Amino acid sequence: MRNLPMLGLTHGNRSAVTCNLKCDNACARPAPNASCEPSFQDVASAALSRRTLLAGGGALAAALAMPVVHAEGAEAAASGTWATKSPLKFTPIKSVEATKDTFTVPKGFRWDPIIRWGDPLFKNSPAFDPTKPNAKAQALQFGYNNDYLDIIVTNRAGTEALLVCNHEYTNRAIMFPPSASDADELEVLRTLKAAHGMAVVELKRRRRGGKWTYVQGARHNRRITADTPFRFDGPAAGSKFLKTKADKDGVLALGTFGNCAGGTTPWGTVLSGEENFNGYFKADPNARGSKRYGLTDADSSYGWEKVDPRFDATKDGYQNEPNRFGWIVEIDPTDPKSTPVKHTAMGRMKHEGANIRVDSDGTVVAYMGDDERFDYLYKFVAKNKYRKGDSRAARKHNLKLLSEGDLFVAKFTGEMQEDNANLGSGTWIPLTKNGKSAVKGFSHEEVLVFTREAADAVKATPMDRCEDVEPSLKTGKVYVACTNNTNRGADGKPGPDAANPVKGNKNGHIIEITERRNQADATRFEWNLFMVCGDNGEAGTYFAGWDGPVAPISCPDNVAFDSAGNLWISTDGQPGTISKNDGLFRVPVAGKERGHLVQFLAVPVEAETCGPVVHDKDGSVFVAVQHPGEDGTWEEQHSYFPDYLSKAGKPVKGNWRGPRPSVVQVTRK
Ligand code: FEO
Ligand code: CA
Ligand code: CA
Repeated sequence: MRNLPMLGLTHGNRSAVTCNLKCDNACARPAPNASCEPSFQDVASAALSRRTLLAGGGALAAALAMPVVHAEGAEAAASGTWATKSPLKFTPIKSVEATKDTFTVPKGFRWDPIIRWGDPLFKNSPAFDPTKPNAKAQALQFGYNNDYLDIIVTNRAGTEALLVCNHEYTNRAIMFPPSASDADELEVLRTLKAAHGMAVVELKRRRRGGKWTYVQGARHNRRITADTPFRFDGPAAGSKFLKTKADKDGVLALGTFGNCAGGTTPWGTVLSGEENFNGYFKADPNARGSKRYGLTDADSSYGWEKVDPRFDATKDGYQNEPNRFGWIVEIDPTDPKSTPVKHTAMGRMKHEGANIRVDSDGTVVAYMGDDERFDYLYKFVAKNKYRKGDSRAARKHNLKLLSEGDLFVAKFTGEMQEDNANLGSGTWIPLTKNGKSAVKGFSHEEVLVFTREAADAVKATPMDRCEDVEPSLKTGKVYVACTNNTNRGADGKPGPDAANPVKGNKNGHIIEITERRNQADATRFEWNLFMVCGDNGEAGTYFAGWDGPVAPISCPDNVAFDSAGNLWISTDGQPGTISKNDGLFRVPVAGKERGHLVQFLAVPVEAETCGPVVHDKDGSVFVAVQHPGEDGTWEEQHSYFPDYLSKAGKPVKGNWRGPRPSVVQVTRK
């Protein structure tokens, strides 16, 4: 059984089990950023008045050109008009008490799991049987704890699609029974390792707007695990910091894990962020980068060093193994034989994810958050321009876009407003420039492998845990979900500032950024708070100026847009803050209803809402339900999602008695 030292001691909003498993108890440790300067409120800031900035923002907005867009936003953007109105009409749900093991959708809608942990993907995949943990079987089945999700429709009739998702982490205590022997437990560890990574699964349906089912044995089905070969590319490929005993050239890493959020690119690939990689290693605490990335010489949270020596990075030849994680990876779901890539040009951190905006001149910008208390917000601008079309040459070109470019980190200035309608300007500080280091004392490869240290050196703004960072394909504005940071304003820590305004920030906030497009070297941006989350009527909350009732919301995490440009927000941590199950919310970002937040669904007890994907023209919303019943044990499960066998949520004899993280489709009845 796993040791759970954090029980009852969490500082944040999650259950103790989630803290332990997901981020190696990051909240119980000192925040790794010891470089934090005083918050920018304490120093002379170049703050402009709200009135001036609003006027300036208008001019800036006018200068924004239409972006090149893809997916659902394409048609409306091409027509040059858009509204906050989405074709998906629904009556909002009320928030659901945090004890309920139910999946709640609006009246007139239904929910169906498309695929669940352990479902067989290939012709030779064994059936799901958690009583017999088996690594080989798991590598042929859908992985655990689905997080980032996309459903990419692949034919004109709208009847075929590729489901792509991340499998972020595992929970040994509820997945498998206690082991009878040490040897059995080693197989459990190998099985857990195989449950990490990513999945690509073919879907089909009879008609547009219908219910998707997955196709076992389909040509594109793929599992990527903690052992799948990945090619390093970009300036740090082959760096001395990436070489190990097993990979003397520093060009080929095995596996990906801690894959959290991500983004689908306009050229049809999927980006995924390697987030809490540190918890998988036993490492030399004095090695370069260890302190800043939270690596210690304690036994790892996952114990993989017992079954794979490379996870004991204190051993000769493996010291650099942790440096081979913390990257943005890119996979091509249309080519199951392709070798996925780790992009060193995009820097190394606890990457939450990456989302791309392509401007009308082809400039490619990726926005990325480092999800740790007092860490930073980044952007990457590709050296080369996006090439339109699906020709072989265009595709080959676009697949290399993220291999070369420059990396920037954000510094915010601004001022507090009484009603939390804070706003200001900011600078993207270059960490690299024209393919060379822009940070004094750092080589190019040092900037990329130890990006946090380089960002410390240029005094970036410490943020309240940037999760998903996503540009609207309609307006180009970028939305930064800062999930929470209860250490904001604690002794010796940076205090509240305009961009992170809440002391002991437990509910999180969302920042809206506007910057010039068609300008690859844009270093100035304007920003304003879009939302300061909290319970209904809680002091200090702010909903983009909307003063009517809103749904209570806490801990924003993944975000997405619908075809009308409304922002959809999923949460992770509401049970610990506002005693509600996590959910999915919709909020207009423009028009009369800007800021009018409503709730669309709620996930079961102890689960986090991930994904989300909104195909509103198609009448469907998809979410990945992560860690349902997380605090249970094999003997005493807390959730039976999604295979409830009665309305009361009780299982019947002979069936699997526990939760299965699953991808869910919500449609009209
Ligand atoms: Fe895996 Fe930052 O959430
Ligand atoms: Ca997340
Ligand atoms: Ca997203």
